[in-house]
Amino acid sequence: MDKFVITGGTPLQGVIPCSGSKNAALPAIAAALLTAEPVVLGRIPAVRDIRTMLDLLRQTGAEVAVEGGCVRIQAAEIARPEAPYDLVKTMRASSLVLGPLVARTGRARVSLPGGCAIGARPINLHVAALERLGAELHQKHGYIEARAPQGLHGGTVPFDRITVTGTEDVLMAAVLARGETVIENAAREPEVVDLAALLTKMGACIEGAGTSTIQVRGVEQLRGTPSGQPHTIIPDRIEAGTFLIAGAITRGDLTVTGCVAEHLRALIGKMHQAGAEVEETAPGCLRVRVPGALQSVDMTTEEHPGFATDLQAQFMALMTQADGIAIITETIFENRFMHAQELARMGANIRLDGRRALVAGKVSLSGAQVLASDLRASASLVLAGLAAQGETVIDRVYHIDRGYERIEAKLAGVGARIRRISS
Ligand code: EPZ
Repeated sequence: MDKFVITGGTPLQGVIPCSGSKNAALPAIAAALLTAEPVVLGRIPAVRDIRTMLDLLRQTGAEVAVEGGCVRIQAAEIARPEAPYDLVKTMRASSLVLGPLVARTGRARVSLPGGCAIGARPINLHVAALERLGAELHQKHGYIEARAPQGLHGGTVPFDRITVTGTEDVLMAAVLARGETVIENAAREPEVVDLAALLTKMGACIEGAGTSTIQVRGVEQLRGTPSGQPHTIIPDRIEAGTFLIAGAITRGDLTVTGCVAEHLRALIGKMHQAGAEVEETAPGCLRVRVPGALQSVDMTTEEHPGFATDLQAQFMALMTQADGIAIITETIFENRFMHAQELARMGANIRLDGRRALVAGKVSLSGAQVLASDLRASASLVLAGLAAQGETVIDRVYHIDRGYERIEAKLAGVGARIRRISS
């Protein structure tokens, strides 16, 4: 298993590019199942979760071609409307094919994702939503079996709690359902908006994406993306946020390019409160510097446009370098503080109390051997390693390869002393 070896203490300087969004690319790829025509997607990040999703589509019978950062998918026929356990167990977002498969073929068999390091993460809300559109769903042998022999019909889908992939799953089903669908308490994440933009290009009728209420008028069938006009996926706001924090934690002068400032307002607001300067120097370019001492600020994760839970671990690492006590409250996932123990191995002073973490700073971090437990936790360990004295060795970096494209090369490009060793 690969490891990262990081020698800390170098302020990051220069320009670091942002890749396409993993969490926007995954539903966009699943959406290709909704039409027999070719769907071409641009700015697809070369990360492991994307490869898993493309393998999943291939095994349904879809043709998939990858040309640089562009992916061409044609699901002319769906021979096998199924998401097998072997793929789903490696990536729970595989459940995003449930809605498109049952909407397109009238049936689907999708493995239940099982447990996850950051929380139980059931898909009961996906199931309840599809039942509202007339699908019959049963759980059998670890799989969800869905049937809609007469096709789906429109309906009102009130989500008990906001779910990102749940909203995306039912949105993709509703575009081919007969009649009107109203999704209430919908997720407002930029990735949901990007999916709606793609579906609209494919001929869907959607209003309200980005708000809590999305209205869909079903159509008979969808077309592919207009020829010669691939749908370019939005930039990865979580990668961009991770780099902004990298610039601040190393007290460097870093410009992140190809990102969308609007998608990062909550993070930028908290970084300003902490004493960092984050300015948009040009459209899509965010420059970060820290003129004085960092101050601790409290933060609570929320659904968008609140502070993203996928940036919580990275922000915790930053707060170890701030004066005072920061209270970090995680409201989305019940077990998303695994990184705290590893940061403590590097000298951080963090006390956990249920869904709250008290981070006492500023401490001097020292390099150590640490273990990555999930995608974003591993990113926080990379950031801590960049700020620490001496050498940090991060094990199980396969977690980070799931969602960050060539992170060590990008960071080395702005001065980080980081290398990958394969054992
Ligand atoms: C998406 O996961 C993202 N993944 C996650 O990013 C992100 O952390 C999360 O949204 C929250 O922003 C993708 O987009 C592929 P949810 P998702 O459904 O959709 C509970 C990363 O690091 N819930 O919004 O799975 C659930 O357990 C990943 O890139 C149910 O109870 O998250 C959680 O507590 C990690 N039943 C809460 O809702 C359901 O049926 C929000 O989860 C669905 C969700």
